[in-house]
Amino acid sequence: MKRPTHRSIGLLALGIVGWAVWPEAQAQVTRLLPRPEPVAETSLLMEGLAQANFRGLNQNLRQQPGDVESWVFIRGQALLVAETGNLLMVRPPRSGGQDAWLEHAAEMRAAATRLARAAAAEDYARSRQGLAELANTCNRCHQKFRITVRIPLKDQ
Ligand code: HEC
Repeated sequence: MKRPTHRSIGLLALGIVGWAVWPEAQAQVTRLLPRPEPVAETSLLMEGLAQANFRGLNQNLRQQPGDVESWVFIRGQALLVAETGNLLMVRPPRSGGQDAWLEHAAEMRAAATRLARAAAAEDYARSRQGLAELANTCNRCHQKFRITVRIPLKDQ
């Protein structure tokens, strides 16, 4: 067998050093890059985003919307609720139940996205159905985290 040369030993050493340093360098990059972080209280998102847009949807879907602009507006309100799901995902409760929180937020995001699609298709029956399903996702999370707020479909 050929004896290892100085050069190959040198390269091997360089490889080992590189291998050892690489995860450290990667961690450094992750630390430096900005990440989403919660700024507002969850109750503010509930009032100003989830509830405000849900109430608007409830109002705007009370009767069949008559023109394209109304449907476009409804679609936008639904998408804002969907994005609120993303915002909720970066603020799981510290006291536990993080997995359930993520699942409930994702359910709300999915239901609101389906509603937005129904609105884009100007499908009234599917939109009404989507609104009811969206309210259920609000209430399921509230129940799970013992929040006494109930989201009804009428009289808002
Ligand atoms: C992932 C869980 C979760 C989902 C989904 C969720 N909520 Fe909430 N909601 C909460 C929590 C937690 C609070 C209590 C926040 C606090 O007081 O700190 C809350 C509180 C509220 C409040 C009371 C806010 C206040 O303090 O004045 C309203 C209104 C509300 N939610 C509406 C909604 C609506 C409408 C939806 C669906 C479109 C929704 N929520 C979906 C977790 C959720």
